Amino acid sequence: MSLEKAALAVRENAHAPYSNFKVGAALRSQSGAVFVGCNVENVAYPEGTCAEAGAIAAMVAAGETQIIEAYVVAGSPTPVTPCGGCRQKLAEFASADVPVTLATTGGVTQHTTVGDLLPGVFNTNHMSI
Ligand code: THU
Repeated sequence: MSLEKAALAVRENAHAPYSNFKVGAALRSQSGAVFVGCNVENVAYPEGTCAEAGAIAAMVAAGETQIIEAYVVAGSPTPVTPCGGCRQKLAEFASADVPVTLATTGGVTQHTTVGDLLPGVFNTNHMSI
């Protein structure tokens, strides 16, 4: 299944009554499986979760930990850009060269990588003593 189709489809299920900004994310894991997530907002605003976080949680719950490709789509005028927290979450399960496509529902895309999204990522090397 294409990540584009999967992300567009799951975006429809986003729960975004406060921002009215629906986001869909799709990840392909090492096995080739596709995992999807949408943003799930909450009336207690900080409790809301991003689409990327949902897709990552679904992947890990299924027993996988390696992302090989990611796709994020929103109804934004320019391709949606993951928040800082989601960049760190992606980096937890993807090497720096993993391709990430950022897209609008109108078909505008931007191609980047996990490494380009988060230069200077905090990782286990920083905890070596
Ligand atoms: N959001 C995502 O789900 N992913 C992104 O990459 C950017 C932002 C969500 C969080 C919130 O529900 C809404 O978009 C507005 O910030």
